[in-house]
Amino acid sequence: MAVIGIFDSGSGGLSVLREVVGLAPGARCIYYSDNANCPYGDKSVQFIRERSLAVCRELVGRGADVIVVACNTATSAAIGQLRSSLDLPVVGLEPAVKPAVAITRSGVVGVLATAATLKGEKYLENRQRYADRVRIVERVGRGFVELVESCRLDGDYARKVVSDSLQPLLDEGADVVVLGCTHYPFLMPLMESIAEEQGRKVRFLDPAPAVARHLMEVLGQHGIDPADAHPGVELLSSGPDDSLRRLYE
Ligand code: DGL
Repeated sequence: MAVIGIFDSGSGGLSVLREVVGLAPGARCIYYSDNANCPYGDKSVQFIRERSLAVCRELVGRGADVIVVACNTATSAAIGQLRSSLDLPVVGLEPAVKPAVAITRSGVVGVLATAATLKGEKYLENRQRYADRVRIVERVGRGFVELVESCRLDGDYARKVVSDSLQPLLDEGADVVVLGCTHYPFLMPLMESIAEEQGRKVRFLDPAPAVARHLMEVLGQHGIDPADAHPGVELLSSGPDDSLRRLYE
């Protein structure tokens, strides 16, 4: 019996929720979008920590046995504090630099993430580890979170916003682009079409499937059976929930 609590600053973590439901269809998942405070990516570490802890306490109050921080920004700012404050397993995620380094042929890896994630200690350490093997080029996906939160996943305006941050990575020769924010996979079809139009073969790495697999391992290690007597998904949010519901459909 398990209740899996999953949260993000907004709808981005739905990309993780979907994978979790795919692997554990009998689980009960409670998803919390802190969209009244979205985006987290340009907020202070202290603010992100306070919100993350408050959201986790809400999930624990609703019976969560495990928490998935389906947000790179919150993981980067708050995972240590969440683990020490909460008496349950906490799973986080970080930009998938290692798998990108393993598959690049051009030797240039692009990373798209929020400003807070790119400044985070863990990311900087990780980046340093591979610096002698590949060139890593980064950009903040400016405006990407807002596009996803307003369900604008295609069209001229979305294409312009996405191109502004993606094109510099393509120009640098990146053939693998790490999507270091859980909102960004919703824009993957648009990114793929921008790259394809230029005759470029680019792989975009979404970490959600690996996070869901890791969650299953963590449940196993803690002897938690993901099947629950009341399977299903409950969507909660701190602000209006229409785009959350639309994106989950
Ligand atoms: N989805 C988030 C992430 O993975 C946060 C985006 C934001 O709120 O800025 O980083």
